[in-house]
Amino acid sequence: MLRIGILTSGGDCQALNATMRGVVKGLANNAEDLEVYGFMNGYKGLIYGDYRMLTAKDFSGILTRGGTILGTSRQPFKLMRVLDENGLDKVEAMKQNYYKLRLDCLVILGGNGTQKTANLLREEGLNIIHLPKTIDNDIYGTDITFGFYSAVDIASNAIDCIHTTASSHQRVFIVEVMGHKVGWLTLYSGIASGADIILIPEVPYDIAKVIEAINKRKQRGSGFTILAVAEGAIPKEIAALGKKEQKKALEDIAKQYPSISYKIADDIQKETGMEIRVTVPGHMQRGGSPCPYDRILSTRLGSEAAKAILDRDFGNMIAMVNGKVKRVPLGDVAGKLKTVDPKCQEIQDAKRIGISFGD
Ligand code: F6P
Repeated sequence: MLRIGILTSGGDCQALNATMRGVVKGLANNAEDLEVYGFMNGYKGLIYGDYRMLTAKDFSGILTRGGTILGTSRQPFKLMRVLDENGLDKVEAMKQNYYKLRLDCLVILGGNGTQKTANLLREEGLNIIHLPKTIDNDIYGTDITFGFYSAVDIASNAIDCIHTTASSHQRVFIVEVMGHKVGWLTLYSGIASGADIILIPEVPYDIAKVIEAINKRKQRGSGFTILAVAEGAIPKEIAALGKKEQKKALEDIAKQYPSISYKIADDIQKETGMEIRVTVPGHMQRGGSPCPYDRILSTRLGSEAAKAILDRDFGNMIAMVNGKVKRVPLGDVAGKLKTVDPKCQEIQDAKRIGISFGD
């Protein structure tokens, strides 16, 4: 008998179901007796013992379904060691539920924060397999995370739509792209949709350079400009501050504007007098069906997770490394962030064709 627990934690994304399907089908087809315990709403389900017994059938027909059939929640890592409002030790509670159900392994799908807790549970002695989920693509140790290319599709479509209206009205348009503290999603969707200016956290922007790029386009006869702006984009004068001052400066911006894009719009408007519009696709970027690339990636990662469980090889993230599916020790990667290298080839290639990064 093989007993596995499975949960999805953190913000959802498109290929969570596709990945779980890969894991469970990979096990069901290769293990004699299988019991699957699906914990509801992320770590919450594991802490409070909220689970459903599932069969391989529950994972059929969900390859293309967005969201997660198990539900999810954000359980910040920094609060994991803090007792809950009833004095419950959450880490101990998770361990007890794992042992009570006599699980052989716990499969955890999630992003950076989720991965840190997965590693903590590994250090506490549980058999863990982590699968890297996020539209942000910021998980260290894997080339790619599932959800990323589906979100690239949606953000690119949003910028494509803006293109036709921007050109008709001779306006400056800012499309704000998700990505938390990193710029992968903005960089890829910006290039994919022909944005004129791409602003990402890893390349702090100089507003004078942004305005220069807009004016240059005007002089060349292009009356409109499209900016793909990461939600974490940062002005270079703020990026240069110490941690505490930087935090305060960003808080001040947040008091004045709904997000950084609106500050950039305000700065451009004041300087150029041009009409500016801001579009924020927001959580649409995490919605809908996974794109075919993500379906393939998720199926492969899920299938390898099943193999690792059958091999009883635990404590790893199942990752894509140089185009190959690999098992990467969780202890080597947990707590690290994969940011965009400002000197990367994608940026150099984009700059060569005239895309400005505001630097
Ligand atoms: O990590 C995925 C992500 O969508 C980020 O891009 C974004 O900053 C954040 O989650 C939004 O979180 P929430 O769903 O809690 O608003």
